Amino acid sequence: MTTETQPLLLAGKPVADAILAEVKHGIQDLLIKGHVAPPQLVVIVVGDDPASHVYTQRKAVVAQDVGMRSQRIALLASTTQEQLLHHIAALNADADVHGILIQLPLPNHINTHTVLAAVDPRKDVDGFHPQNLGKLLGAWDARQNPVALPCTPAGTMTLLNHYGIELAGKHAVVVGRSTIVGKPLAQLLLQANATVTVCHSQTVDVFAHTRQADIVCVAIGRPGWLTADAIQPGAVVIDIGINRLGDDHPTRAGKLAGDVDFDSVALKASAITPVPGGIGPLTIATLMQNTLKLFVS
Ligand code: GUN
Repeated sequence: MTTETQPLLLAGKPVADAILAEVKHGIQDLLIKGHVAPPQLVVIVVGDDPASHVYTQRKAVVAQDVGMRSQRIALLASTTQEQLLHHIAALNADADVHGILIQLPLPNHINTHTVLAAVDPRKDVDGFHPQNLGKLLGAWDARQNPVALPCTPAGTMTLLNHYGIELAGKHAVVVGRSTIVGKPLAQLLLQANATVTVCHSQTVDVFAHTRQADIVCVAIGRPGWLTADAIQPGAVVIDIGINRLGDDHPTRAGKLAGDVDFDSVALKASAITPVPGGIGPLTIATLMQNTLKLFVS
C-alpha cells in the first residue's frame, strides 16, 4: 500500500541555517556586550579515517563561519593514549578553550571511555562525558538535561519539533544503539513521551519492530537498509546514516547514501529525511549551539 500524497520532506538545511544564524547573532551580541573574544572550539581527530577528517574540517569551517574561534588538532594514528590525554589536559586547563570535541571513532589501541571521561564535563560539547550522559539518563524532561546534548540526537529532536511531528504517545523505533546516536536519541524520545523500542544487531526480526513504528529512526551505517516493506503506511522515517557508496554501487560510487532506501520508502512514509541534507546539517548546527551554550554557562 502507498500513501496518496507525497511525503513531507524533512529538510534539515533550512533548520540548520536558522540555528547557525541564531548562534552567529548570539556571538555578535556577546562581543557587543563586552566579551573580549568569541568562544573557542577545539576538535581533535586521531588517525587517518577519511570520513573523520572531512567531518572535522567541516566542523572547524562552520565554527569560523558563525564567528567562533576554532582549532583542529590532527594527530597521527600512532598517537598513544597517554599523548592524547596530555592534549586533553592542556585544553582543560586553558581558560580560553570553551568546547572540546574528540572525533570518534578513535583508533583501537585507545580506550574511548577513558578519553571521553578525561574531557572537562564543562567543555564537553558532545555530551559524551559520563557525568553528562548520567545527567541525561536521570532527566525526566529538558530542564534537567546537561547543557550540551549529543549533537546528532539533539539535532534530530530539533528537526522533529520544527516540522511539528507529534511524539507523545507515539511508538518510536530506534535502530542502532551507539552512544553517539541510538542510546541518547532513545532517551530524548522518552523525554518527549514517546514509547521507545531500541533495536540492534542482536535483535530478532528487526523489521517486525519497525513495521509497528509510528516513527522509525535508523543509525546503523548500512546504505539503503530500511526498505518500504519494513515500515507501515504513514510512518515518519528519520535517516541518520551517512554512507559513502563504494564500487559495489557502480552508478552511484562515491556518492552519499543514507540507511534508508529513500525512493521506495518515500512512497509509503508520511514524512522522511533526505540524505544528504537531512540530519547531517543539524549535527553541525547543534555542535555550534552547544559550544555557545557552554561558553555562556
Ligand atoms: N563521530 C560521528 N559522529 C560524531 C559526533 O557526533 N561526535 C563525535 N565526537 N564523533 C563523532
